[in-house]
Amino acid sequence: MLPALAALSACSGVQSALDPAGEEATQVATLFWVMTVGGGVIWAGTVALALYASRWKRHAATEQGAGRLIFWGGVVFPVVVLTALLSYALWLMPSLRPFGGEATQGLRIEIVGNQFWWHVVYRRDGAEVVSANEVRLPVGQRVEFALESADMIHSFWIPALGGKMDLIPGRTNRLSLLATKAGVYRGQCAEFCGISHALMAFPVVVSEPAEFDAWLEARTRPAIGLDGSPAAARLFVDRGCGDCHRVDGTEARGTAGPDLSHVGSRLTIGAGLLPNDDETLARFIAHPASLKAGSRMPAYLDLPAAELAEIAAWLKGLQ
Ligand code: CUA
Repeated sequence: MLPALAALSACSGVQSALDPAGEEATQVATLFWVMTVGGGVIWAGTVALALYASRWKRHAATEQGAGRLIFWGGVVFPVVVLTALLSYALWLMPSLRPFGGEATQGLRIEIVGNQFWWHVVYRRDGAEVVSANEVRLPVGQRVEFALESADMIHSFWIPALGGKMDLIPGRTNRLSLLATKAGVYRGQCAEFCGISHALMAFPVVVSEPAEFDAWLEARTRPAIGLDGSPAAARLFVDRGCGDCHRVDGTEARGTAGPDLSHVGSRLTIGAGLLPNDDETLARFIAHPASLKAGSRMPAYLDLPAAELAEIAAWLKGLQ
């Protein structure tokens, strides 16, 4: 009993398919419990039958009786049970992957998987907002995702919201999700894509539609705090950061790395790797590969500590 309870306690949390906060995840969780309970009942019945036959049954079955048992227990029963479970799963399938005009309410999010980070573009009513390594969604509204990859096969999975979908180079996969509960969840790359595959995660923030709209609207403009330190903004470009990273409203226009336009307001850095603060930002800039093996960003160990701190503080200020 205790091990079972301990195992179940791991079922809650920000990255659990059994603690659903979305319509699709609720279906997945229901399917899991139906299959688990169904399998458990059959297992218990089989064990009980085996115990009965080996311990308590006194007389051998007649040939006719044995034949009947094999027919009903070995043929009819499995066919009925497996057909019922298969039908149930097939009946559930369309609702796990809903699509169609009325299913989406105008918000489309494009995700491009990269080793080992996520490029994220929000599109609604002609507006385009570019972000990275974090996904924000309105609660109660269906959102369509377009999933692509720039290099390897990745897989986009937010267990609390729904099933996973691969990101495959050269094609666009679609995924539709409806979050039903506001909160912060965790998404994770679910297809091995290289040495830091396990560190390719992202926070998922589900908020009330009004709050989400305000957030998205603010992202269509350059960040607050952009002009807070013109010297740091200059350094960011002069030291080459802008060759790979874009910061809206500056000369930094690179696209090889994550967009950093409002990076200060994100919950994590390095794609779900570390909490976002001045200190972790400075650490990451100084030596990315020591925190995330295989990171394509070069180390900046020769950057003077004062410059490192200045750039980190400026980035944290981009709200
Ligand atoms: Cu990307 Cu695993």
